Amino acid sequence: SQYQKGVKHLCENGIAKVPNKYILPVSERPNSFVNGESNASEINLKLPVIDFAELQGSNRSQVLKSLANACEHYGFFQLVNHSIPRDVIIRMMEVSGRFFELSFEEREKYMSADMWAPVRYGTSFNQTKDGVFCWRDFLKLLCHPLSDVLARWPSSPVDFRKFAVAYAKETKCLYLMLMEAILESLGLATTKNKTREDEEEDDILEEFQDGSQLMFVNFYPSCPEPDLTLGMPPHSDYGFLTLLLQDEVKGLQIQFQEKWVTIEPIPNSFLVNVGDHLEIFSNGRYKSVLHRVVVNSTKSRISVASLHSLPLKTMICPSPKLINEANPRRYKDTDFATFLEYAASREPKKKNFLESRK
Ligand code: SIN
Ligand code: FE2
Repeated sequence: SQYQKGVKHLCENGIAKVPNKYILPVSERPNSFVNGESNASEINLKLPVIDFAELQGSNRSQVLKSLANACEHYGFFQLVNHSIPRDVIIRMMEVSGRFFELSFEEREKYMSADMWAPVRYGTSFNQTKDGVFCWRDFLKLLCHPLSDVLARWPSSPVDFRKFAVAYAKETKCLYLMLMEAILESLGLATTKNKTREDEEEDDILEEFQDGSQLMFVNFYPSCPEPDLTLGMPPHSDYGFLTLLLQDEVKGLQIQFQEKWVTIEPIPNSFLVNVGDHLEIFSNGRYKSVLHRVVVNSTKSRISVASLHSLPLKTMICPSPKLINEANPRRYKDTDFATFLEYAASREPKKKNFLESRK
């Protein structure tokens, strides 16, 4: 149908109203009322800010405490002084914008209904299954192992591959350093303070290096009736951590105290969030929090989400060191195939993937 071509295509034909295909039931709209109360909060939530440069310095133990607090109580934090060169970030945003400016015929070459396809251009959340479509077009790129997938990545616009590879490599590095800090914040040994008995953690750090990485480049056109639809429905992310790069247009909302709260983008930062796999690995100590995207009537928005986990075939299970009598195992093991089954299902994208919870 015409909607399979995505929202950018739809908007290019000029529309004054949101087509029915995108209109959510009243209770799922961005500003719906639940028991007489709005589901959206007016509060201006200040997310914890983690200074990555400080994490590498003499203040590390203090920053690790802030990191633990953020992952336990918010599931999200803003990462500043992140060490990725400014030009790598600027080029990624710029080339992402140019990708969506390609003609539809160019973008269409990468369309695929196969959830496993290493490169997939699409629209909505899962266009083959979604009852109501969301106001989003995206390009998904599998980033690992890079040498196997690179030849499949879009060859246009000019420099797309070059800039996206540089960006993928830098975010992977940053992710690995963050995971090392996260293991430490959970009281698990790392290369910095290991003993002979800690080979298990060495193994897991090595596994993280060889872990999966997926990038989603998201485009949310401005929308004539933003109160009727969403850019992305409520969901949690599947991996250990997601590193989100966004332009200056706000749109991401996270669930906090049962309300939806808008996150103000901080220039030159990453928004980092705990995914389902880290929740499982930490045996529930760190929380994978529901989030969604709202759209607006004046500005389009671009974001790049980089999702990281263990290798796709590895089972994810609670760390044995975080299970004891006082804190029994709370999750069943899971893997990427299970996640894809869930993602491809018609289930509303709630946090029900974690019903692998024991
Ligand atoms: C996501 O949840 O993966 C993307 C969020 C965003 O575009 O801000
Ligand atoms: Fe997400």
